[in-house]
Amino acid sequence: MLSFLVSVTAVAWALSSSGLSLGRAHCRNQPGDPGYPTSADWSAFNNTIDGRLLNVVPSAEACLKLGCTEAQWSSGIFRQAIPGSMNAYNWEQDYGPPAELCLQNGTTCEQGFVPLYAVNATAAQHIQAGIRFAQAHNLRVAIKSSGHDYLGRSTAKNSLLLWTAYFQNISFTEHFLVADVDQGPSVTVGSGVGLKTLYAAAKAQNKVFIGGTAATVSAAGGYTQGAGHSAFSPIYGLASDNVLQYSVVLANGSFVTVNAASHPDLFWALRGGGAGSWGVIIDATLRTVPSFNITLHTVNILTDSLNQTGDLMTAHASHIKDWDGVRAGQYFYLAGSTTNSALVVNTVFKDLDGASSKAQLSSFLSSATALGAVVQGETTITAPPNDIVGFADDPSGFNVILSSRLIPNSVYLLAPNSVGAAYKRLLSQGVQTVLGHLVAGGVAANANIESAVHPAWRTAKTHVIATARWGNTVSAADVRALRKNFTATVRPVLSELAGGASSGSYSNEGDVLEPDFSVTFYGPNYSRLERIKAVYDPNDLFIVSTGVRSEHWDADGMCKI
Ligand SMILES: Cc1cc2nc3c(=O)[nH]c(=O)nc-3n(C[C@H](O)[C@H](O)[C@H](O)COP(=O)(O)OP(=O)(O)OC[C@H]3O[C@@H](n4cnc5c(N)ncnc54)[C@H](O)[C@@H]3O)c2cc1C
Ligand SMILES: *[C@@H]1O[C@H](CO)[C@@H](O)[C@H](O)[C@H]1NC(C)=O
Ligand SMILES: *[C@@H]1O[C@H](CO)[C@@H](O)[C@H](O)[C@H]1NC(C)=O
Ligand SMILES: *[C@@H]1O[C@H](CO)[C@@H](O)[C@H](O)[C@H]1NC(C)=O
Ligand SMILES: *[C@@H]1O[C@H](CO)[C@@H](O)[C@H](O)[C@H]1NC(C)=O
Ligand SMILES: *[C@@H]1O[C@H](CO)[C@@H](O)[C@H](O)[C@H]1NC(C)=O
Ligand SMILES: *[C@@H]1O[C@H](CO)[C@@H](O)[C@H](O)[C@H]1NC(C)=O
Ligand SMILES: *[C@@H]1O[C@H](CO)[C@@H](O)[C@H](O)[C@H]1NC(C)=O
Ligand SMILES: *[C@@H]1O[C@H](CO)[C@@H](O)[C@H](O)[C@H]1NC(C)=O
Ligand SMILES: *[C@@H]1O[C@H](CO)[C@@H](O)[C@H](O)[C@H]1NC(C)=O
Repeated sequence: MLSFLVSVTAVAWALSSSGLSLGRAHCRNQPGDPGYPTSADWSAFNNTIDGRLLNVVPSAEACLKLGCTEAQWSSGIFRQAIPGSMNAYNWEQDYGPPAELCLQNGTTCEQGFVPLYAVNATAAQHIQAGIRFAQAHNLRVAIKSSGHDYLGRSTAKNSLLLWTAYFQNISFTEHFLVADVDQGPSVTVGSGVGLKTLYAAAKAQNKVFIGGTAATVSAAGGYTQGAGHSAFSPIYGLASDNVLQYSVVLANGSFVTVNAASHPDLFWALRGGGAGSWGVIIDATLRTVPSFNITLHTVNILTDSLNQTGDLMTAHASHIKDWDGVRAGQYFYLAGSTTNSALVVNTVFKDLDGASSKAQLSSFLSSATALGAVVQGETTITAPPNDIVGFADDPSGFNVILSSRLIPNSVYLLAPNSVGAAYKRLLSQGVQTVLGHLVAGGVAANANIESAVHPAWRTAKTHVIATARWGNTVSAADVRALRKNFTATVRPVLSELAGGASSGSYSNEGDVLEPDFSVTFYGPNYSRLERIKAVYDPNDLFIVSTGVRSEHWDADGMCKI
């Protein structure tokens, strides 16, 4: 076996010496390769990390062993204890060809994109040792906290997983110092802490932080590296605008403090420059504000034709400025088809009571009624934010892909009709769910913050996502076709609405097959990100799909191209 591989390597070298293509020496080591660690190497490594090395299996296999109920399979909180689990479990699959699948309750199971080993870290030294081992043996690594990623970036074939789920420290302070300057109240949170846990901890302190609507997304994991949007972003800006510091293990194994004074270039990149490309975050320090009351206003709007749905979304686009004065955040989720649809509108108002919140919506709802839609189920609830935005759990264990764009405010002001028209096109193409987020804009001054956040966030009004889901009976070949088709047909509709080739998309909630990802996810600052990556990760240890420098690697991040 070994000699066979050596001779293949020799042939590859002979071929590559005559041209530009590179041989196996430019790949990470995989099982069977001569440089891959022996079981004795793994065992010795395990001893250096307090015996915290795990063998990893796909979630379906883990669940067979655990005897998971359907409710457990579908629970983001339950799945977090499974090292191989991705919430959208299509990312555990390799659809090939050749395909390697492990489906829920299946009779066969292959490893697919699930890592082989994981470091179940509870101390920075475990991560440091994992990184040194990976560098020494030229291994592919993956970094995961919650496994929430919609682009599959927290899992990788034949990799060593650096698993940060058990970094669970939380500590609040009234005076956080950066280079001896008091930055005020903040919370330092381990990279395994989910939003639900952090909301509960903040409530006990009578504080609020700028977080999203999910139970298990890690506040200090991928969230702020992508940007981090929140119902409070129209008031306080993006979550990444509110990060004061990170503690990070770098690709060279050093454990460093990263803030505006220490490694400021890395601090710039970590805030918006893309998840998983920079180092392993152990914890992050987030600004907090004193608690306040919010009202969550909820209403459902039903339409009974495609034209009516288009008219409704145009009306919504025309009215979206109604909420500028009070800087509301809003989630407007459409589920529909070419015959009918339901729009669920959840609006978050700071410091407004139920009656005032209803008044804010009344003009839009009158327009909806006037165009023939049915408005129903209007409710309000007033409470501290932590009770409302920290969800109980996140539905998980299904297959989903996304495509998204940041839609500029100018589109809403100048061409609200184009919004309705785009929704009609999407529904006509078979898209069943379009998720709208009024979570951008609002804080003009934040446009001056020096960070890698895509500048499109600063001129956007909304972040709009089209989704596709499929069941376990779809064949691997059909999944490949479906994914290609989704990118080919859905992306242009959103891109045209957002202004074309230079339009931006949220790197945490987008399409991993975006053809021009450096422009779409990072915008004009990509070259600076490349320069910072060359300083902190010269060996490209941290490669994720659509991440900085991923274009120099194959789709699996395994071989340099
Ligand atoms: C139900 C749900 C709700 C969501 N709601 C929101 C929302 O309201 N606002 C919003 O902005 N986004 C939201 N998101 C998207 C979310 O921001 C991304 O999924 C994000 O990538 C999650 O980060 P994570 O660390 O929890 O996930 P993971 O899948 O663990 O990781 C995601 C990425 O971050 C990297 N990463 C993880 N941990 C670390 C670490 N410790 N150090 C370095 N890199 C790390 C991974 O390598 C990967 O690239 C939501 C997602 C879901 C599934
Ligand atoms: C690592 O060591 C621990 C403790 O000895 C052991 O339980 C575990 O199985 C080992 N991990 C692997 C992958 O062998
Ligand atoms: C999978 O198996 C579990 C445990 O046997 C069962 O509870 C669940 O209903 C099954 N789910 C599906 C979709 O077949
Ligand atoms: C990972 O470590 C944590 C903390 O020690 C422990 O509770 C958990 O069971 C471990 N997970 C696995 C899969 O071994
Ligand atoms: C968590 O906090 C404890 C107590 O302050 C500290 O000893 C430990 O190093 C912290 N762990 C991490 C991973 O930061
Ligand atoms: C690791 O890299 C950082 C950033 O370039 C540098 O400051 C540090 O000295 C390096 N550490 C080692 C051990 O080389
Ligand atoms: C929030 O509302 C409650 C109940 O009305 C009230 O007691 C509390 O003072 C309010 N808090 C703030 C910060 O306004
Ligand atoms: C829908 O609107 C289009 C354009 O306004 C119009 O041409 C078409 O007849 C309408 N369809 C229906 C079924 O009313
Ligand atoms: C591709 O998408 C179009 C609509 O955009 C749809 O009509 C067609 O059925 C899709 N084809 C496949 C193979 O999914
Ligand atoms: C990032 O892009 C913005 C917008 O084009 C530009 O103004 C800024 O100078 C860039 N910053 C860096 C550091 O390149």
